[in-house]
Amino acid sequence: MRTELSLAPLATLETELLAILAVDTQTAKGPDVQPQPVLLTADESVIAASAGVLATGEFKAGANETLLLHAPEGLAAKRLLIVGLGKQAKATVHTVRNAAGTAVRFAKPRGIRELAFALPQNDSLGPLHVMARAAAEGSFVGDFDPDTYRSDRKDQSVTTFTITAPADADHAALQSAVTEGTIIGESQNFTRALVNEPGNKLTPTILGQRASQMASETGLQSEVSSTEKLHELKMGAFWSVSQGSEQPPALIVLRYEPEGVSDGPVLGLVGKGITFDTGGISIKPSDNMEKMKYDMAGGAAMLGAMRAISLLKPRVRVIAVVCAAENMPDGKAQKPGDVQTAMSGKTIEIINTDAEGRLVLADGLSYARQLGATHLIDAATLTAAVGIALGQVNAGVFSNDEATYDKFNAALATSGEKFWRLPLGDEYAEMIKSDIGDIKNTGGRYGGAITAAEFLKVFAEDTPWIHLDIAGLAWIDENKPWIAKGPSGVAVRSIIEWVRSFQ
Ligand code: BES
Ligand code: MN
Ligand code: ZN
Repeated sequence: MRTELSLAPLATLETELLAILAVDTQTAKGPDVQPQPVLLTADESVIAASAGVLATGEFKAGANETLLLHAPEGLAAKRLLIVGLGKQAKATVHTVRNAAGTAVRFAKPRGIRELAFALPQNDSLGPLHVMARAAAEGSFVGDFDPDTYRSDRKDQSVTTFTITAPADADHAALQSAVTEGTIIGESQNFTRALVNEPGNKLTPTILGQRASQMASETGLQSEVSSTEKLHELKMGAFWSVSQGSEQPPALIVLRYEPEGVSDGPVLGLVGKGITFDTGGISIKPSDNMEKMKYDMAGGAAMLGAMRAISLLKPRVRVIAVVCAAENMPDGKAQKPGDVQTAMSGKTIEIINTDAEGRLVLADGLSYARQLGATHLIDAATLTAAVGIALGQVNAGVFSNDEATYDKFNAALATSGEKFWRLPLGDEYAEMIKSDIGDIKNTGGRYGGAITAAEFLKVFAEDTPWIHLDIAGLAWIDENKPWIAKGPSGVAVRSIIEWVRSFQ
């Protein structure tokens, strides 16, 4: 899909479909109170073309509600699509992002391959270029479909998404915002495509190949190694997960080094890349086990973020470490009760082989520190418990450093993603003390997302660190108007923004 920018008058736009936004301005409540939809445009021709249908009251401007008009009078567009943002007071740049996705997803199954999207003219929603960037992101989010392997698959992708703004808008600012949004949206979809791949099509080795291919296309340095390197680095925790699989592990390292930046922070992005999680000897029940192909979503988020970083070129150095392995039961697999020595030298008692993500991440965090990371962020589909705590609404975020967390929290205002901070503390750390070694890899039923984070914290040591537990959000179970069910690409946008905040 291509994104374009147009400052032409809306009436003259020759397009298959022109999408226009509306909010409900009704503030009164009560049984007889009707919604009051108002279009977010000053364009007289569009207002005139929609006046009749809006007067019928059948369109309420609910969030992502749509109304289609064919052959709108006085417009060169073949169709006019009105997309609701919901109540005016709740409309934000984030609802605009979703509305762009909704417009694209409206077009796709109807054979419409090209559409225009009018940015809202409404100062309370924010500057136009902020809207433009979000709309570009949202259009890519909406364009993605997960049915890659259907033999009769019809490619319903939109080819051109034209973002339009009033003639007096700042063209240069809008153009760079659209370019930025395009890079970010494409990178989120890069992540989603990886997460969507089944375990037989995306082994650790293949994930490594996909990462190095992306790196060479975007100008990142990359190094992908396997078993020997794990042994050389004494990555006993990472290897303990990999040892039960026929598939060799992949230790994926990507580096972004902007020219002329030789001091300041080095950001370490560490991702869980379990290409399939059976649970190992502590095997999972069969129900829903197929979903565990998504257990590399944290690693894929780091790869997507690196893709965007390499194209957006922030002035800060970044290293990504993705620890890819398959967690399988086997004669060679590790067993509950085994004791493993991590790269850091800490000994780990394995209580449950299904708590494998924290094992690969432990060594990933140590390695990122060894490579010079001054600040760490990790992302992982780490625990079912985070979904129990926060539902499929917020992902979990943990941190050992207030200033680093504050930067992440600020990034959320731009990305529009929802993360909720959960606590850490000595009482939780107590729960993972081992009788035979330093720590054990599970802390029991209670506070499962937190004890997993406490485990990782041991390996972040004194480095400022953020942990993202995205298990509840990395896969969307139901279609939504603006995004298909399947891989969400959650965390990519927030990580990009967090990185940019260091430049
Ligand atoms: N990949 C899973 C987390 C997961 C489980 C995500 C179910 C979504 C649904 C992780 O490796 C895992 O198995 N975690 C265990 C940890 C437990 C054994 C302490 C869990 O959450 O059940
Ligand atoms: Mn597991
Ligand atoms: Zn897992």
